[in-house]
Amino acid sequence: MTTLSNTQSSNSAAQPSTIRIAAIGMGERATHIIKLLSKAKEQVELAVLVDPNTQRADCCKEDKEIRTAENFVHYQSLDQMLEAGPEIDGVVVGTRCNLHTPIALQIAKLNMPIFLEKPVCINWQQYEMLEAAFADCYNQIVISFPLRITPLLLAVKEYITNGRLGTINQIQAVNNVAYGNVYVDSWYRDYDLTGGLWLQKATHDFDYIHFLADAQPLCITAMHSQQVWKEPVLHQDAGSAIVQYASGIHANYTQNFLTRKDAGKRGATITGEDGSITFDWYTETFTFHSHIDNRIENVSLKSDSGHGGGDGKLVANFIDVILKRDVSKTSLREGLLSAGTCLAARDAANLNKVMAIPVPFSNKKPQPLKQRIEPVE
Ligand SMILES: NC(=O)c1ccc[n+]([C@@H]2O[C@H](COP(=O)([O-])OP(=O)(O)OC[C@H]3O[C@@H](n4cnc5c(N)ncnc54)[C@H](O)[C@@H]3O)[C@@H](O)[C@H]2O)c1
Repeated sequence: MTTLSNTQSSNSAAQPSTIRIAAIGMGERATHIIKLLSKAKEQVELAVLVDPNTQRADCCKEDKEIRTAENFVHYQSLDQMLEAGPEIDGVVVGTRCNLHTPIALQIAKLNMPIFLEKPVCINWQQYEMLEAAFADCYNQIVISFPLRITPLLLAVKEYITNGRLGTINQIQAVNNVAYGNVYVDSWYRDYDLTGGLWLQKATHDFDYIHFLADAQPLCITAMHSQQVWKEPVLHQDAGSAIVQYASGIHANYTQNFLTRKDAGKRGATITGEDGSITFDWYTETFTFHSHIDNRIENVSLKSDSGHGGGDGKLVANFIDVILKRDVSKTSLREGLLSAGTCLAARDAANLNKVMAIPVPFSNKKPQPLKQRIEPVE
């Protein structure tokens, strides 16, 4: 079989006949991603599966939406895969949150494109280890941040970059989560696995907010509360944060996990001198209000492939990174910037303080590691 690996070494311009993927942790999320990869116009196949759950391999082979390689192989541990040295072109990491960093560190030596689930890390120690390991190749890591590249957000961003809003002074973002039961009724309730709901949920939102702000986030303050959920659940059921950017603008973000049914809402209002724009992923619509005349534009952008069309875009970008046609549009730099914002928000809420947000892959560290704390919410 001709694979990407050997066609690329002989002729980098040649199109490979097959892209061989390894999946590490084939749960709900990775299964969805591998199905999208299997549907791509390029020939992408699941060549290797690493998962201690032996049933996952049978599920993959039986699932008609997953294209498995003829020589598909299942390992129960990553060490076994690394020892075998399989011929692969990219790796999808879909384990639970606490293992994202340890697995990324283990496969760093393969020096190949990685599709890494969010959050990229769940504490400051992991943050620093990831930053050190991928300083030279963070652009070939695709972080699973679908919101940033949804058609809806890109359309909103276009209004900003085309100057329709004029000078922006604020982003007001809200995430009223209509499916918050997931965080108390499933494995997500385990704080040690997720690091809490700043990392689990807000990492997506801080990422798109930073993207819209198009400026360096400097510091954050935050509060969180638990009014309905009770121990042993350690998660907040609501949290709010304010981020200050180097450009002078600020963003506020609120998440609430008690929202249910049609009360769900995820999006933001961006206000500028000449106009405001409000968008919502639940309705996949945005409204632009001109501040200059009486013009109001209502736009609907329906999508497919999950997360407002972002999942399909992520997968297409991952293939492009593997084929060296592009760099990651949601790189580890963004992954760390967002995770650092979440960790700083968690610290700020626990300490009633304003915390600096570190700049990934720079020497600007707001605090030495020894002064960091790891309180629970
Ligand atoms: N980007 C997104 O929009 C999005 C959406 C949903 C979930 N997620 C993320 O996806 C991740 C996985 O969530 P899920 O619901 O699929 O979880 P899951 O429990 O369904 O899947 C995890 C899988 O990892 C396997 N596993 C456990 N230990 C392993 C190890 N040492 N090596 C290899 N595999 C191992 C498990 O057997 C299981 O199959 C979470 O971190 C979550 O935050 C992201």
